[in-house]
Amino acid sequence: MSQIKIGLFFGTDTGNTETVSNKIKEKIDGIIGADTVDLIEIYKKEAEAFAPYQYVIVGMPTWYDGELQGDWETFLPKFEAVDFSNKKLAFFGLGDQYGYSFYFCDALGIFYQIALKNGATVCGKWSTEGYEYDACKAEIDGVLVGLCLDLDNQDDMTEARLDKWIPQVLGEFGLI
Ligand SMILES: Cc1cc2nc3c(=O)[nH]c(=O)nc-3n(C[C@H](O)[C@H](O)[C@H](O)COP(=O)(O)O)c2cc1C
Repeated sequence: MSQIKIGLFFGTDTGNTETVSNKIKEKIDGIIGADTVDLIEIYKKEAEAFAPYQYVIVGMPTWYDGELQGDWETFLPKFEAVDFSNKKLAFFGLGDQYGYSFYFCDALGIFYQIALKNGATVCGKWSTEGYEYDACKAEIDGVLVGLCLDLDNQDDMTEARLDKWIPQVLGEFGLI
């Protein structure tokens, strides 16, 4: 039997999303087996990078009052060209809910809508409990479309959030 593979695609400006991506890989590989997660930085990648993966995790920060991180901004038209109809996707986003309270993790909401339109089964939705933002495009119908992490203000909650979200995602992927 071929090995289960999860593609974790991330972009980062100051390294926080990369740090979290490494943690997610470490934790999933610990649960499912070594080398389950391929880490792929989105910088200079093409849409075809998604092709090998039935299971996908996408991670991105939000920058400059609700804007996309630069590499994800460049990738956006390519993301719009990906057929996600046979893929299960989970999103995680990084933001600052106090400093940018009206734009918390907005980027996630933008990519979520595209993935949905392109046929993705989106897993790993998350409760708004414990957050204090004023507005967030990642909140749809009272639920966050993925895991929102705030390393600027709630870094002490990151580990526990990951330890709850990861098994949830793997369960919804049907892998555990
Ligand atoms: C100038 C600046 C603008 C930011 N804008 C937003 C924003 O609009 N929404 C948000 O949720 N976080 C915002 N943030 C917080 C970052 O998303 C957060 O620090 C994140 O952890 C950075 O991730 P990275 O290191 O992977 O780039 C901003 C931070 C800075 C310094």
